[in-house]
Amino acid sequence: MSRRLFNDCTLATMLPGSPYGLCHKAAFVIENGYITWAGPETALPREFFPTAAESLQGRLVTPALIDCHTHLVYGGNRAREFEMRLEGASYEAIARSGGGINATVAATRDSGDEDLVAQSLARLDHLIAEGVAVVEIKSGYGLTVDAELRLLRIARRLGQLRSVKIVKTWLAAHAVPRDFDAGADAYIDTVVIPGLQRAAAENLVDAVDGFCETIAFTPAQIARVFEAARRLNIPVKLHAEQLSDQRGAVLAASYGALSADHLEYLAPRDVPALARAGTVAVLLPGAFYTLGGTRPPPIAALREAGVAMAVATDCNPGSSPLFSILTAMNMACTLFKLTPQEALAGTTRAAAAALGLQREFGSIAPGARAELAVWDIEHPAQLSYAIGAAPLSRRLSAGGSR
Ligand code: NIG
Ligand code: FE
Repeated sequence: MSRRLFNDCTLATMLPGSPYGLCHKAAFVIENGYITWAGPETALPREFFPTAAESLQGRLVTPALIDCHTHLVYGGNRAREFEMRLEGASYEAIARSGGGINATVAATRDSGDEDLVAQSLARLDHLIAEGVAVVEIKSGYGLTVDAELRLLRIARRLGQLRSVKIVKTWLAAHAVPRDFDAGADAYIDTVVIPGLQRAAAENLVDAVDGFCETIAFTPAQIARVFEAARRLNIPVKLHAEQLSDQRGAVLAASYGALSADHLEYLAPRDVPALARAGTVAVLLPGAFYTLGGTRPPPIAALREAGVAMAVATDCNPGSSPLFSILTAMNMACTLFKLTPQEALAGTTRAAAAALGLQREFGSIAPGARAELAVWDIEHPAQLSYAIGAAPLSRRLSAGGSR
């Protein structure tokens, strides 16, 4: 058995009850990759006394961060579309004229496996350098059965190359591919659902997602994808109400979705459905910022209804070329008026819930995986406050300290 005892630190456990779940002059014990004890140094049980303590020299320790919504595996970039938007074109108009998601599909299909792995690893390493230990990665830039499966296999490979947990999400219902003439319904029947069945058989998929929007899929089409997910016993989540109110969040909640993501156009009337279903609201301020959004999600209503709010990068080449989870937290505060405590809960406890991982990730407590971030800062609000800082001292991970 391996046992390590750490002391002389401040813990932000993120457990409910007190701000950040703060515990000063704290110690914690890691055994076989799990936390077995955490609390004030003075309360350390006798059984741990013989273990030599490693001092963290007063540093702050939080759960390792979680990026619960990314499209991190893709080829190319869309800087030209960034220019076009600044010249006056809208995101929807660019998508309708063959750019947007379909442009990245072409660039991704043109990239070989090794090239995609290398490009994606560089992005993943940015996240890891900010204390991230769990990253959700969606497919969605392949849009054929084989091309979508390839993206999830690459996502899995990233998790073997780095000490991070990768959650793999089937997002074949991201767009109808440009070269598919039979329409959205036929695409769902011949690609999205059969591909999902293959991904499940290959044990490649942890969750199923879709893009419910005028430029993508209707609620009725998404419902058919969700039915297939239900038959396979795979949890669902949804890109909902990003650009218009399609009542996607209500649909997602009716399937007990782990999360509904974006939500700028979520109507207050639909907030209670999320609360009742325990569906997490995933806020993606990087996309709001990049697309010049003017209407933030209904934060006050979500807060009042007790809907857990997560924060993620939405890392993708079109709407959110953002590789920094700390910047996402800063933006959630400045653009959406989250408190720094909510922003940190959004990348720890709530993010874990958005992935169905709350039993083992996202807080510091006995029974949780020993995935922790040690920071060179005094107070957890500093994580959201600074822009472009590099506050990570080290990660403590079941795979070792790095
Ligand atoms: O989360 N909304 C759909 N998917 C991405 C955008 C993808 C793209 O533009 O390539 C998002 O914003
Ligand atoms: Fe997204």
